[in-house]
Amino acid sequence: MKNLIDILDLSTAEIDELINIADDIIDNPAKYREKCRYKKLATLFFEPSTRTRLSFEAAMMELGGNVLGFSEAQSSSSAKGESVADTVAVVGGYADIIAMRHPKEGAPLVASMRSEVPIINAGDGGHNHPTQTLTDLLTIKREMGCFENLTIGLCGDLKFGRTVHSLIAAMSRYEGVKFVLISPTELKLPSYVKDAHIKSKGIPYEQTTSLEEAMPKLDILYMTRVQKERFFNEEDYLRLKNSYILTPDKLQNAKLDMAILHPLPRVNEIATSVDDDKRACYFKQAKYGKFIRMALILKLLEVE
Ligand code: NCD
Repeated sequence: MKNLIDILDLSTAEIDELINIADDIIDNPAKYREKCRYKKLATLFFEPSTRTRLSFEAAMMELGGNVLGFSEAQSSSSAKGESVADTVAVVGGYADIIAMRHPKEGAPLVASMRSEVPIINAGDGGHNHPTQTLTDLLTIKREMGCFENLTIGLCGDLKFGRTVHSLIAAMSRYEGVKFVLISPTELKLPSYVKDAHIKSKGIPYEQTTSLEEAMPKLDILYMTRVQKERFFNEEDYLRLKNSYILTPDKLQNAKLDMAILHPLPRVNEIATSVDDDKRACYFKQAKYGKFIRMALILKLLEVE
């Protein structure tokens, strides 16, 4: 049995395979409508979510399966003090596969050690978010055609933004990739991520506070939300929340074929007036999330 806890649990060949399946699902949805008949996905969400949970549920439904679960910790037995390990040990008796989001870093890993069914990390605290990365990779592949030789700007909350950490881990495996890390000093990429995936591999990178200066170099601009829920005090959040606001005028010296990605939800960091720009890919990206999760469910359940 295989779990997806960290994006590096998948080889680049396995990622290619998932992307090929997702492409085929997009082209031939009818072929997949019965693939998971009588299978059940449990979504155990101890933290808020719209896209991740609903796209997982829609994915299982489109494969002909069923879904069960909860969307807040308060409505589960964790409110009574149950451990995640015990919760998954029990839910594994009701469902064939589990997608779990938890505010504590490492909770899905702990869960996977006690689970009899595959566990998917649907976001653990400020740590990782591998299925968002699969969504991002499918978007990059469809928009740019490949993963090699891309200069990727990551902008906003690089400290607490788990999607950023997983995306850097994934992209660091491709030839010719460069990173431009754009954030306020207080929200810089944690050194454990930088050391493991950028420095140790000798990948070229720049660190800057200026989105304007970085803009002309970028093939991909990955905007992120300042992660309010991870701040220790509100004052810091209020001071930093509007550090970057992407507006049409800031895009004037961007490449014409640059892709703008954002895992969403957006708060203020991309003006709605950018949505009509040809380079804005974030709503398409959210849509792709369902297809890559369908591919992932098929793979983890070993459905042909
Ligand atoms: C992200 C997350 O939960 O980390 N959202 C998502 O899953 N698409 C990004 C965020 O909440 O800012």
